[in-house]
Amino acid sequence: MASFFRPAGRGAIAASLIASVLAFGAQPAAAAEGAAAPAAQSWSFDGIFGTFDRGALQRGYKIYTESCASCHAMKFLAYRNLGEPGGPEFGEAEVKAIAAEATVQDGPNADGDMFERPGLPSDRFVSPFPNDNAARAANNGALPPDLSVIAKARAHGPDYLFALLTGYGEPPAGFELREGMNYNAAFADHQIAMPQPLSDGAVEYSDGTPTDLRQLARDVTTFLVWAAEPKLEARKRAGFQVMIYLVLLAGLLYFTTKKLWTGVEH
Ligand code: HEC
Repeated sequence: MASFFRPAGRGAIAASLIASVLAFGAQPAAAAEGAAAPAAQSWSFDGIFGTFDRGALQRGYKIYTESCASCHAMKFLAYRNLGEPGGPEFGEAEVKAIAAEATVQDGPNADGDMFERPGLPSDRFVSPFPNDNAARAANNGALPPDLSVIAKARAHGPDYLFALLTGYGEPPAGFELREGMNYNAAFADHQIAMPQPLSDGAVEYSDGTPTDLRQLARDVTTFLVWAAEPKLEARKRAGFQVMIYLVLLAGLLYFTTKKLWTGVEH
C-alpha cells in the first residue's frame, strides 16, 4: 500500500518523460513492410518555411475527383474546405459549383422519405460506396481506404504516396502475382488490389503544367498532404514566430541578468 502512495521518484518521472517523447516521435508502422523506404522527394511544404503550391493543390483536387473519387472516400473534408486559406483556395463561386456537382442524400423530409439534392459547400465529400462491404465487393475484396488522412497514416507519407503511385510495372521474372492483383514496387509484398490509377496524360490540365505520371503523382500527393493537415502553413508560421520570440526573450534575459549581477561579489 505504502509504495502505492509514494510519489514517483525523479528517475521514474524522467523515464516516463523519455518514454512519451519516444512514443511521440515514433513513426506510424510502415505499411510497406518488406518494401524499401521510399526515395526522398523534395516538396514545397517541407522545412520550417514550407508552404503549399496553390496550383498543385488545385490540380491535385482535380486528379482526386477524376481518378480516385470513384473508389476512395475523403469523408473528413467538406467542399467549403476547398475555399479556405492555406488550401487550394478556390473562389467562393467555384466552391459552390464544385459542391453542386455532387449528389447528396438528405432527409427524411416531411413525408419521412430520403431524397437527393445537389451538394452545398457545407456538405462533406460524397463517398463512392454506401458502406465498406459494397466497397470491397467492387474491389476484388480489398477495401480502398479513406484518403482524408492517408498522408499521415503512412510512414514517409508524401514520399510513400509518390512511390506508390509511380511504382506500378511488370513483375520481375518468377514473381507470383495473385489473381486480380497488380505489381507495385512500393507496396507491401509488391502486390496491390488497386489497379494503376494514374499514367501519362491521365488528367488534363488547363494551366499548361505537364501531365506526365510523375507530375500527376506529385500534384495529387500535395493535395493529400494538405487534406491530412489543412493547417500546416499556419502551424509553420506560428512555429517560426515562436522561435523569433524565444530568441528575443533569451537576449533580453541575458542582458537583464548581466546588469543585475554587475558589481555583486561572487
Ligand atoms: C478502381 C478503384 C481505385 C481507384 C480508381 C483508386 N484506388 Fe487507391 N486503392 C484501391 C484499393 C482496392 C486499395 C486497397 C489495396 C490493397 O489493400 O491491396 C487502394 C489503396 C490505396 C492506397 C493505400 C495504400 C496502402 O499503403 O495501404 C492509397 C494511398 C491509394 N489507394 C491512393 C489512390 C489514389 C491517390 C488514387 C487516384 C489517383 C487511387 N488510389 C485510385 C482502389 C482504387
